[in-house]
Formats: sequence, structure tokens, C-alpha cells
Amino acid sequence: MDKRIQIVLGISTIMIIILLAQCTYHNEDEYFKDNPNLCYTDNMSFSNDISPMVQESCISCHGKTNASAGINLEGYDQLKPYAESGLLSKVIRHESGVTPMPLYEAKWSDCSIEKFEAWVEQGMKNN
Ligand code: HEC
Repeated sequence: MDKRIQIVLGISTIMIIILLAQCTYHNEDEYFKDNPNLCYTDNMSFSNDISPMVQESCISCHGKTNASAGINLEGYDQLKPYAESGLLSKVIRHESGVTPMPLYEAKWSDCSIEKFEAWVEQGMKNN
């Protein structure tokens, strides 16, 4: 075969492989986000994933002006030590030995708990 044809074919093959690889990755990402039966826990963000859940179900009793049990969870710096010690995980999992949270309200969904714990495992980033 002509050398030039071989080169063109080689380059085309590489390009197609790169395109397919990007395509697969992109789809997988979207697939996880859009499928309600799957829980997306990659790269958890404090401001987009964790803070909204805490705002919605904890801050009414653990804000800076009304910290029940002296526990203020309003903001990253306040919340982090309780996440780090494992106490938040215990209360949202309703483990024995702690008061289950959120008090008087439904337990977080498995996915919300997984997201919270993934954020802790990913180093509690302030992102
Ligand atoms: C309706 C008010 C209310 C809500 C909502 C609420 N808490 Fe609490 N929380 C309390 C009170 C009151 C206590 C003290 C209870 C006790 O010591 O028995 C407490 C205690 C705690 C404790 C200490 C528990 C222990 O046994 O040491 C943690 C941690 C905590 N809350 C985290 C949370 C988190 C996280 C959320 C949201 C998922 C939340 N709370 C939602 C009122 C609330």
C-alpha cells in the first residue's frame, strides 16, 4: 500500500478512537446524572451538593443564631469539624447512641447519605 494512504488511515483510526472514547465518557456521566435510580457521588461539591441538603433539613435548628445542642452547621467552617469527627454521618444514618437527625423529620434518602459520605471521603472539599 502507498505510504501516504497508510499514514492517513493510521491518523484516521486514532482520531476515531479518541472521538469514541470521549463520547463514551460523556454519555456515562450524563447517564448517571439523569437516571433517578442511580446515585451520582463523583466529585461532590460543598456548595452544590452538600450545603443545599443541610440548608433544607438542618439549618432551621442548627443555624448560627439558633444552634440546637450548641451545634451550628451554618457554613463550611462550622460544619466541617462535625463531619470530620463522624458525628454527622452517625446522626443521618440513625445509628444507635446518637439522636437521629433531622429531628422529627424523615431520614435522608440513601442517595443523600451516600452523597454526604462521598464528600467526606473525598476530603471534605470547600468547593
Ligand atoms: C427540628 C429541629 C432539628 C432539626 C431539623 C435538626 N436537628 Fe439536630 N438536633 C436538634 C436538637 C434539639 C438536638 C439535641 C438533641 C439531643 O441531644 O437529644 C440536636 C442534636 C444534633 C446533633 C448531636 C446529636 C448527638 O446525639 O450528639 C447533631 C450532630 C445534629 N443534631 C445534627 C443535625 C443534622 C445534620 C441535621 C440535618 C440533617 C439536624 N441535626 C436537624 C434539633 C434539630
